[in-house]
Amino acid sequence: MAYLKPQRPEKVTAPSLRASKERGERLVCLTAYDYPTARIVDEAGIDVVLVGDSIGNVIFGYGNTVPVTLDEIVMHTRAVRRAVQRALLVADMPYGSFHTGADDTVRAALRLIKEGAAEAVKLEGGRKRAPLVKRLADEEIAVMGHIGLTPQSVNKLGGYRVQGKTAETARALLDDAKALEDAGAFAIVLEVVPREIARLITESVKIPTVGIGAGPHCDIQVLVLHDMLGLTFGKVARFVRPYANLRETMTDAVSRFAEDVRNGSYPSDAESYGLPAEAAAELNISTEDEKAKDPKRS
Ligand code: KIV
Repeated sequence: MAYLKPQRPEKVTAPSLRASKERGERLVCLTAYDYPTARIVDEAGIDVVLVGDSIGNVIFGYGNTVPVTLDEIVMHTRAVRRAVQRALLVADMPYGSFHTGADDTVRAALRLIKEGAAEAVKLEGGRKRAPLVKRLADEEIAVMGHIGLTPQSVNKLGGYRVQGKTAETARALLDDAKALEDAGAFAIVLEVVPREIARLITESVKIPTVGIGAGPHCDIQVLVLHDMLGLTFGKVARFVRPYANLRETMTDAVSRFAEDVRNGSYPSDAESYGLPAEAAAELNISTEDEKAKDPKRS
């Protein structure tokens, strides 16, 4: 099996991402929400692991990210933390955790850093959120910005659509990116924007851009793990390349297990434990081995 070897074995950090951009390296980010998947992702050499609020869609089945709570992200970040050694671990600030003032935002981010042991946080929003990004950066918290399609705004946007398709909205995105950079963000997610605009932004800021549905010019590419593994229900976006069909693989495995139980072929002797002959004699019962040799035995 071919594993993606890390280009460099050293620990990835927020500052090292910027150095990678300067060297022109292409880096990779994936989401993870639990120990086993995070371990697989980290061992495969993925550079950035994000405990995204997409957990609301792919793990909790909420339908969108709006209901996700800070407690949920903290708990899952703790699990992911135990698995991730090399990648930079980023935790998402869920909707509501940075909407009631700067002090509340710092408190929420500190929970992700101290209880979840994330190395950085991500929050959605452009210029409007720049003062919060600055405040977090002033408190020594590494912050990733997120502009373009911001799923936490789904109720305001009225759906998930490509952002920055007009000259005016594209200029606004560029202003957002620059404001976040000036405020101290170490990277910016660009979600579902035209590739030309992602390129313009990537070339206009010194910090790395993290593209999802934003074309090939971003410094880092990110996908939601369950989307690229085919472990989702319903339609996936056109930018998701399906690298596996785990839903099919899992359905097949689960169905075969059920069939084996129902037809009596599971569990076999090799998959169960026999009583030692001594104990069987004391109990005055036969072992399964003895019965197999002499079917007349009781
Ligand atoms: O929550 C998430 O998974 C994200 C990525 C799509 C960037 O924000």
